[in-house]
This record gives sequence, C-alpha cells and structure tokens, in this order.
Amino acid sequence: WWSQIKAGAPDPIFSVTEAYRADANPQKVLLGVGAYRTDEGMPFILPCVQRAKDMLGEQKLDHEYLPQGGYSEFNRAAARLALGEESDVLKNGLNLTVQALGGTGAIRLGMTFLSRFHTGCKVVYIPNPTWNNHKNISLNSGMEWKFYKYYDPEQKGMNFCGMCEDIENIPEKSIILFHAIAHNPTGFDPSPDQWKRLSNLCMERNLFVFFDMAYQGFATGDAEKDASSVRQFIEDGHQVAVAQSFSKNMGLYGERIGALTLVTTSKEELERVNSQMKIVIRAMYSNPPLYGARIVSQVLNEQALRCQWLKDIQGMANRIQSVRQLLVAELKKVGSEKNWEHICKQIGMFSFTGLNKEQVEKLTKEHSVYLTADGRISVASLGGKNIPYVARAIHEVSK
Ligand code: LMR
Repeated sequence: WWSQIKAGAPDPIFSVTEAYRADANPQKVLLGVGAYRTDEGMPFILPCVQRAKDMLGEQKLDHEYLPQGGYSEFNRAAARLALGEESDVLKNGLNLTVQALGGTGAIRLGMTFLSRFHTGCKVVYIPNPTWNNHKNISLNSGMEWKFYKYYDPEQKGMNFCGMCEDIENIPEKSIILFHAIAHNPTGFDPSPDQWKRLSNLCMERNLFVFFDMAYQGFATGDAEKDASSVRQFIEDGHQVAVAQSFSKNMGLYGERIGALTLVTTSKEELERVNSQMKIVIRAMYSNPPLYGARIVSQVLNEQALRCQWLKDIQGMANRIQSVRQLLVAELKKVGSEKNWEHICKQIGMFSFTGLNKEQVEKLTKEHSVYLTADGRISVASLGGKNIPYVARAIHEVSK
C-alpha cells in the first residue's frame, strides 16, 4: 500500500531534538525546541504546578469524559487570563472558549473552524519569519498561507513599515495571524503604539485577526501586560480568535493544554458558533484530556497558587533575561568583536542570533550545539554551566 510514498521533510524543530539525542558527545547542548530548563539543564516543574498536582493527588478524581468543549472551570480561567478580569466581552458572556490540545491544537481548531465558516478570503497571512507550524496548520486545515513582512535581517529588528505596507495590500476579509507576545522566532514585538496602528489597519482592511498567544507571562514576567495586544484589538472592536498555550508559562509541554477563544456578538450567535465548534471537535478528538486542564484550573482558580504562579513566571522571565546578558558578556569575553546586542533586546524564550545556515551547521557538527537552521536558539534552555561552552562555539563559527 505504501510503495508510492515519498519521504516527508523532517520537522525543522523536532528533528533537531532527534539529532541531539543521537549524538554521543557528552558536551552536547540542545537549544532547538523552546523548553525552559534549570541552570543544571533539567526540566523545570513550576512550584505552583507541583502544589496543584499534590492537591489533585489527594482527591479521588474520576476519569469520565469531559464535554466536547472541555473543562469549564479551566475554560473560564483561561479566558479571564487572556481577556482580563475587566473585559466587557467576558462580562457580557460573548466569548466562546474551548479547551484545546496545546497551542498547536488551539490554532488547528480555530483554523479548521475558519476554513469551514469564514465567509471571506480563505488565505491566512503570517509573518515572515514565523513558527513553521503555522504553515502546516493552515494547509492542513484547508487554507492557503501567505507572508507579510515582519523582520529586517540587516537591522536585526522589526520591519514595521514593510509590515504595514504589506497589510495595506492584503485583500479585504482575509485572515491575519499575529504572535500576541514574544514573536517566535525573532523575539521582537510591536510597541503598544504600533499595535494600535495595526489594529486600525486591520479594521480598515476588514481583516479577521487570529492571535497566537503561546508565551503570556514569558516576555515581561507580567501576564496582564503580555496580553495587551489582544486586549487592545478587542477593545477596538475586533472579533478576534485567540489561541492560548500553557506549555511554556506553566511548563506543561507534554500535557497538551491550551484554549481557543472566539469573540461573538450576541448570546444567540455564540450558541450557533458553539454548536458548530462541537461538531469540529467531535470529528477530531471527541473531547480533550483531563489532567492538564485540572492542573491549570487549580493554579489559576486557587488564590495562593495563582500568586505562586505569578512569582514563578516572573522568576522564569528574569532568568531568561539574565541568561541573555550572560551570553553576550561571555561572547565578548571569548573575544568576539561582533555586535550581539540584539540578543539582549529580544524578548521571550528565543533569540534569533543572526547566525546563517552554514554557521548553524558548523555549530552542530563541530561543537554539538543544536539549534534550528534559521539561527534561532532557545535561551530558556541555556544554563549557567553551558553558557561559556556555547559562547566559545558561537565565536568559533562566526569569526
Ligand atoms: C518551539 O517553537 O520550539 C515550540 O513552540 C515547540 C514547537 O511545538 O515547535
């Protein structure tokens, strides 16, 4: 049956992990996939999550099916986190929020829904560059994708003018995707004024706005501040879609826990949208898994745990920032005369180093430092011990 099948392309992020695993060099370092590590290079279980797990462990919980839309206490907490306690949409009950299988699952659900029901142009405009999976998800949901300009490799910063110019030319009623915070891979976001400008532009072009919010809390350590782009657009009257992930900001990578929110205009519309969403979900996975939703719900709904979570994300964001500075200092120390200041200006868990494909290949082949081919490193995976080693290796390949 399978003789005609041509080999598929390896995933640009997860294939890096596979190659790392196969490397016998004891000094190897994995900076590919975005996963927060301790200074010792170990996975980090957030203290708030550990406490939530302990509390859950003490209860006699059953394993019944969740409703198609997921765990309602989780959905309510996720929506409050994204939209804010004071959101009129929330107060008026106009958000449809459903549980999803991580950030990928939330985007996939949203895109599948749009491919079925969006009445405008079924093209998703994504930033160049972007998280590669945006392309896969759009295509697999039956939609086309196209780039809008986002990054200027010469200046190592955002190309905001180019971005606006491209958006002005997007056909009306298309779909546009933004990274709500901590753009992956570049680490550069629009300023609040620029977001306002983008919101106006999207309104003028009558675009459907889809936010991918995978790093709320990771950029500044302040979950409220990190949601300001989404809240600005909603305040301006956009009926956005928001895909949330709790992989990074709660360290729940393998639990696949996320949420999708659609903003509707009336309760009656919400009911119709919800009925169709349930049909989409039923055909994809029937209903989502329980454990991650229970953990997130416990953390966000229990006052003491929520306070702990706010401390935990602040701690992670601070540590990422100090790792950026340590890396740049270490690059100078080993003799690099290149300007690495962009590493400190970027936010979120990644740094778009500016290393080219050949340099990346050398880093991996000669130094067993694993990163994605576009030169992105997960600074959140760098620890105290391996910073000098990585800095020396980067210097060697970029001299
Ligand atoms: C990443 O960009 O490394 C993460 O978002 C993990 C993933 O699913 O690609």
